[in-house]
Amino acid sequence: MNFQDLIIKRHSTRRFTDEKLSQDEVVTLIQSALLAPSGRHRRPWQFVAVEDKEKLQKLSLSKTSGAQLIAGAALAIVVTTDPLISDTWVEDAAIAATYIQLQAEDLKLGSCWVHVRERQTADGINSEDYIRKLLNIPLQQQVICIIAIGHKAVETAPAKLDELEWEKVHIDHVKTPEDAAQALIDACQLESMTAERKKEVEQKS
Ligand SMILES: Cc1cc2nc3c(=O)[nH]c(=O)nc-3n(C[C@H](O)[C@H](O)[C@H](O)COP(=O)(O)O)c2cc1C
Repeated sequence: MNFQDLIIKRHSTRRFTDEKLSQDEVVTLIQSALLAPSGRHRRPWQFVAVEDKEKLQKLSLSKTSGAQLIAGAALAIVVTTDPLISDTWVEDAAIAATYIQLQAEDLKLGSCWVHVRERQTADGINSEDYIRKLLNIPLQQQVICIIAIGHKAVETAPAKLDELEWEKVHIDHVKTPEDAAQALIDACQLESMTAERKKEVEQKS
């Protein structure tokens, strides 16, 4: 599968089979994270790979909603990052997490991003503190997200390219309402000019 097909096909997977990942797959996933670009090449991240079922179950309770799927995953990669190492700590960690997801898709595995920062458990405990305690993560490491990974229980349909929000893309600069009105006037003038020209040609022939 080429890269373009891969990103069209990738979708979040929230239901996994019981099949474990091979050691090679786990190493490849972590290797991809470590290969991600980072601001000034500071690489402020750390990754905690969790396969232990009991810990996965506990991670699934790390916030009130949206984390339950971790319990059924074969692997969770907890992505942490140190703001004292780089001021691009959030971006660096987010890019590394994205690399993990794309690598997972390339290995024909499913994955889902579980957001952690500024979330709480059902008991009102800060999600980061809960995960830090569970996995012995030092205080200076901010927990950005958990990438849950496993074999897909169901295949997801590829993205529909005709539903892309092209209106959010701007050429050269973002158009003001006045620009849009002018573009409409120009289009109308062009249309009437074309109609006149067409008439001229018809009269000559
Ligand atoms: C920053 C971020 C946070 C997300 N948090 C969660 C989450 O906590 N739980 C979850 O099930 N999905 C989460 N997702 C997955 C999104 O819901 C999903 O990517 C989005 O709905 C688009 O669907 P797709 O990944 O299938 O294309 C998150 C994705 C991102 C990028």
